[in-house]
Amino acid sequence: MTAVDEIKTRLHIEDLVNEIPSVKLRKSGKNYTGFCPFHENKRTPAFVVFPDSGTWRCFGQCNEGGDIFKFVMKRDGCDFSQALKTLAAKAGVDLEPLTPQRKEEDEHQNRLRQLLEESVLFYQHFLTKNEIGKPALDYLVKRGLTMETLASFGLGYAPEGWDTLMTHFTGRGYTVDELKEAGLVSENPEKEHIYDRFRNRIMIPIRDAQGRMAGFGARILNPNDNPKFLNSPQTTLFDKGRLLFGMDHARKSIREKDQVVIVEGYLDVIILHQAGFTNTVSPMGTALTEDQLRQLQRLTRKMILALDADAAGAKATMRGLEIARQSLDRGDEMIFDARGLLHEESRLRADLRVTAIPEGMDPDEVVLRNPAEWESILKEARPIVQHVMDTLTSGRDLDDPKVKDEIARQIIPLIEDLASPIERDTYRSRLAVKLHINEESLMQLQSGGQIKGRQSPRRQTKPVRREPEGTAGWKDPLRLLENHCLRLLLFKPDLFSVVEDELKQRNFPLLSVDDFQSTEAQEAFLLLVDAVQQLETSVHDYLLDHQPESLNEFMQAVNAGISLENTPDDRIFDDLYDTITRLRLMQIREAIDTIRFLVTDLSQWKEQQVDERESLREYNKKMTDLTGERFRLEKALQPEINFQ
Ligand code: UTP
Ligand code: MN
Repeated sequence: MTAVDEIKTRLHIEDLVNEIPSVKLRKSGKNYTGFCPFHENKRTPAFVVFPDSGTWRCFGQCNEGGDIFKFVMKRDGCDFSQALKTLAAKAGVDLEPLTPQRKEEDEHQNRLRQLLEESVLFYQHFLTKNEIGKPALDYLVKRGLTMETLASFGLGYAPEGWDTLMTHFTGRGYTVDELKEAGLVSENPEKEHIYDRFRNRIMIPIRDAQGRMAGFGARILNPNDNPKFLNSPQTTLFDKGRLLFGMDHARKSIREKDQVVIVEGYLDVIILHQAGFTNTVSPMGTALTEDQLRQLQRLTRKMILALDADAAGAKATMRGLEIARQSLDRGDEMIFDARGLLHEESRLRADLRVTAIPEGMDPDEVVLRNPAEWESILKEARPIVQHVMDTLTSGRDLDDPKVKDEIARQIIPLIEDLASPIERDTYRSRLAVKLHINEESLMQLQSGGQIKGRQSPRRQTKPVRREPEGTAGWKDPLRLLENHCLRLLLFKPDLFSVVEDELKQRNFPLLSVDDFQSTEAQEAFLLLVDAVQQLETSVHDYLLDHQPESLNEFMQAVNAGISLENTPDDRIFDDLYDTITRLRLMQIREAIDTIRFLVTDLSQWKEQQVDERESLREYNKKMTDLTGERFRLEKALQPEINFQ
């Protein structure tokens, strides 16, 4: 049995959920019902816990579910390996016995973190308790920061000298190597001199989502100094692409408000938090990485990009859709690349919106001027496709057929990438209106596109025989289907795009993590998506390099079984398509059963302030959607049923 399965047998999902009193979990038949802890609502008891399968699902607004691991990931806003550690400790399951080498590394990391914690205090001291820091303090106060804010974000000041910090910390027993590794001192290229990295700068501590120190962002005081911001160097502790500034303060609020606001600057985050907009974070000037988006997506799907006016206003010209901003310090890295984000959006199923900030202003200035103005800017954020559409068309001569054609060709692929057919339709008609053309010609443009595999109608052969694996706990048909689907995808990753094209063409949603219920399967799926999307190396090598330890056992088990080596590609494709359809059908049937159960369960909630009419309306709507989808899936399986 894998460690994950061991933990699943030892811990009960209902106990875990019960630790959150606001859920008010009640037993009802063999299941439990209550109020979803992940969205604000105390009137519809649409949160269901299934002790038999060890899973939960919210049939209300979130429409999300999973096992105990997913529950902890959502509750704590953490990733799978963290959830695995938390629950392993709770269940008393030994994960990997710590090798002496690993233990040593851990201790080393902890010592560096400790050093960084002490350096926060060191810099803080100079800002608030030493005359030397007076100009820095004055500057920050002038920028609108209160003393309380300075303290809660731990802001500090690095004094002018070359070795103030070095002398202090070597005196406290830290070695120069440790200071170097923590990114606090630098060495000149000839390796003759070692000196304090940060001098005469405002120091902004950057912490990870758990609040552990990772590094610093350091802003100039003297306008002639360069660069404007100097960050800690890339180290194991400070991995910029994985950190979001403000995340430790924002996590709870992002989840509660079910929305995150992404701004560009450090000071923007701090001032917005001070003004009560606590669901704000910053990717610290660089492009939003997929890792960052994914962290955010664990907390919410609603993301608002509050671009500085210069970036938002940038006209996409020669470089097509790239809304980029460049600076000497940042080389030609893309900032908030809208096309990249759109692409991520469809993969991550995020609701990405873009705000327009008054010309020449940063978010911090807007909110200091008038918090209500900021509020309305957020309210008026436009969906990202709309944003790109507006940016591309603004200032162009839309009567010129060549311009129309050029713009349509750029936008159609973005629209085609959207997961929801309704959204696709909506944007297609908006584009048609905007360009004064009829939708018919847009559709033609689209079918002239490069959608692969559309000429190959689904072949109707029998699926490859499924071999149930011997692993304990894998008899659950749903998990068998999940694992089988992953196995096929892992075996022939090329089929990923082929099967997605097929789904798209048939107006079914693309594959997504929501197709999988066990957290391991979800994690494996996300990893596979990453592997397929990257271009650096083969899928296989990527997996070898990136597969986290926490997935090793699972992946081994998934890959076990009879060899697929001699199975022709088209049979594997059919099997895959078929497995996905069955998997979805099974989940939908279960969901329909559960909603029926929720409707009968409603009468049990009389004494609480449950709004029965509203709840019923919500359930009925879900039911209509689900039965429609079930019908379509059943039809998709039909030809094969006739064959057997
Ligand atoms: P900006 O240049 O817009 O600065 O960079 P800002 O945040 O508005 O700074 P203030 O308001 O003048 O104090 C936006 C963000 O990009 C990163 C920083 O995270 C900064 O907050 N950045 C910028 C760097 O990392 N290095 C730089 O040299 C410049
Ligand atoms: Mn600014």
